[in-house]
Amino acid sequence: MTDTAQSPLLIDGKATSQKIMAALATRVEALKSAHGITPCLATILVGDDPASATYVKMKGKACERVGMRSERYALPNDTTTDQLAALIDELNGRDDLHGILLQHPVPKQIDERHCFDAIALAKDVDGVTTWGYGRMAMGEPAFESCTPKGIMRLLDEYNVPIEGAHAVVIGRSAILGKPMAALLLNRNATVTIAHSKTRDLPALVRQADIVVAAVGKPRFVKGDWLKPGAWVMDAGYTQGNIGDVDFDAALPIVAGITPVPGGVGPMTIAMLLESTVVAAEKMVG
Ligand SMILES: NC(=O)c1ccc[n+]([C@@H]2O[C@H](COP(=O)([O-])OP(=O)(O)OC[C@H]3O[C@@H](n4cnc5c(N)ncnc54)[C@H](OP(=O)(O)O)[C@@H]3O)[C@@H](O)[C@H]2O)c1
Repeated sequence: MTDTAQSPLLIDGKATSQKIMAALATRVEALKSAHGITPCLATILVGDDPASATYVKMKGKACERVGMRSERYALPNDTTTDQLAALIDELNGRDDLHGILLQHPVPKQIDERHCFDAIALAKDVDGVTTWGYGRMAMGEPAFESCTPKGIMRLLDEYNVPIEGAHAVVIGRSAILGKPMAALLLNRNATVTIAHSKTRDLPALVRQADIVVAAVGKPRFVKGDWLKPGAWVMDAGYTQGNIGDVDFDAALPIVAGITPVPGGVGPMTIAMLLESTVVAAEKMVG
């Protein structure tokens, strides 16, 4: 691992996502002109959580920016599992919709796993189904969970050596930590997954060439936990825009780090759009 501690790189997810979106706009235009197809993402929001509503709105606006369509479905707080699954079933059957995003979290009375798994594999552009996860973990083609996919893309964009590196992923959620670990493992990293029951986390993180922070606790990872020259990918996003890593303390130590905001976040949306475009392209062969 190169020790570039003297000149840490700011891993710019905003600029990288803009490049990806520009390329996507070209692919969308090609689908329209060659096949008369406009890629379309259906978003489903259940309840009135303001943060979730903002995320869904951002995703819809991003679709517009690359020339895609999006359809928003807003369901009331008291929606049942059966009602939500019925909507997903209806959307699965529509040829003019290419991706379905069910915004997490859903109200407590809903069986979220059942509803995620109701999404057709071909439209699981957010990588949330059990079947899609299994294929991804096996290294088979599948739509990958968007945040880990975006982190992998950033690592590649910045030529971060992955093979043989020790990656410590802090967090094991189904949408982030677990698929992140699987993607890194598929690229021959040596992966440790840490969680709330992990003992002596600082000592573990000090061994890491790559640290992925996916905890959801502001400035949780301290500067003195980091090995000089480590690459730090901060997926955390709490209290508006505070990451999981103490950025100012980490910066002088690391080889590169994602800022919050402007790091992992914009990549997540770009990956969602990219997967939806791929889903539309697959429809036309
Ligand atoms: N940038 C984006 O696009 C994007 C997308 C998704 C999520 N996020 C952000 O990423 C963060 C994590 O999201 P999530 O959905 O994965 O959260 P989550 O479901 O709450 O999972 C958090 C994970 O952190 C672990 N954890 C909690 N306290 C810990 C501790 N003291 N030491 C070590 N591990 C600990 C938990 O361990 P246990 O499993 O043992 O409870 C859990 O696995 C949040 O800030 C979220 O907003 C960002």
